[in-house]
Amino acid sequence: MSIHRLPWPTPWTEFFGRDGPVCVEIGFGRGAFLLDLARRRPEANVVGIEISNRSLVAVERAAAREGLHNVRVVHATGQAALAHLFAPGTVGEVHVNFPDPWFKTRHAHRRLLAPKTVARIASCLEVGGTVHCATDVAAYAVEIDRALAGEPALASALAAGVRSSPTRLDGVVTKYESLAIAAGRPCAYFKYVRIATTAAPTPVLTERPMPHVALRSTGADPSTAATTFASRPVHAAGCHVHPLAVYVGPAGLLIDTVVVDPTIEQHIAVAVHPRADGAWVVGLATIGQPRPTLGCHVAVAVVARWLLAVLPGAEVVAEALSLDPAARAVLAEGSGVRDSEAVAMDAEVA
Ligand SMILES: C[S@@+](CC[C@H](N)C(=O)[O-])C[C@H]1O[C@@H](n2cnc3c(N)ncnc32)[C@H](O)[C@@H]1O
Repeated sequence: MSIHRLPWPTPWTEFFGRDGPVCVEIGFGRGAFLLDLARRRPEANVVGIEISNRSLVAVERAAAREGLHNVRVVHATGQAALAHLFAPGTVGEVHVNFPDPWFKTRHAHRRLLAPKTVARIASCLEVGGTVHCATDVAAYAVEIDRALAGEPALASALAAGVRSSPTRLDGVVTKYESLAIAAGRPCAYFKYVRIATTAAPTPVLTERPMPHVALRSTGADPSTAATTFASRPVHAAGCHVHPLAVYVGPAGLLIDTVVVDPTIEQHIAVAVHPRADGAWVVGLATIGQPRPTLGCHVAVAVVARWLLAVLPGAEVVAEALSLDPAARAVLAEGSGVRDSEAVAMDAEVA
């Protein structure tokens, strides 16, 4: 299963065909902990999140071989899964065992257990739900400690005044943990509980309606615009859109595009095709099976903006415009986002 195919948020009860506490492991690797969790908690609906295809296939096969029906694995980053797949207050447990440390300073922003992800975890957890983290990297342990202790919706589940343990609190030893132990590296284990707060939970990011814009031109049709295409990234509405190449076919244009929303990345195509009434519709092609995020709306606006700029007498057919207001603003700008704005948004996306 892929995050690109699952409903946002995913109705896990329907998915497992039964009610049960949802237990999530992010970055399960070889899957020893995940499979053990599924064995120990037969009443739980266990969800594993991984970016490694090899791990996903191996663990799915191992679960099937063992007849473990209460575990599903999903291809997603932990950050994207937490933002899209789990409705606020619906998860019983989240486990993160030995996340990649990203040692280099310039890669530090990729660390999973940053305050932003911890806030998402806290939001997904039901009151009384728990988050369990472990690492053998001393500097990362300091960051995890700060992020967990700094999250107002979480409280340490260890003895009063204790925020981490040098020994495992539950479950089996993972592959990376056994390597750390063999090398004599001390490990830090954290267990926090979700407490009731008055803070509003972070909403799950859902899909938007399919974006499209209809255009008319008094002059040449859009295929003639292809020669003016320039591959230029655009940063707008917190998203990064990069039209890479344009393809001209008998049914119109296809613009190969990378779309990066703050929580998810997609490689899609924007299509420009003629309509029976003579208008040209700019929308999402089915290639890449896009999920209509805000970034996809911006991508459609960027392509429509380009056509409006280069086609003689081109204008938007107002009644046929289905765009998020933020993408509408991109379309209206015509001349593009200001450089200073682009830089600020770029920093946010990165
Ligand atoms: C250091 S390994 C730890 C594996 C396992 N948890 C263990 O303790 O042996 C980190 C794992 O997290 C996965 N991973 C890395 N970044 C991730 C992300 N952003 N979201 C989900 N999984 C991720 C990697 O593919 C890898 O399997």
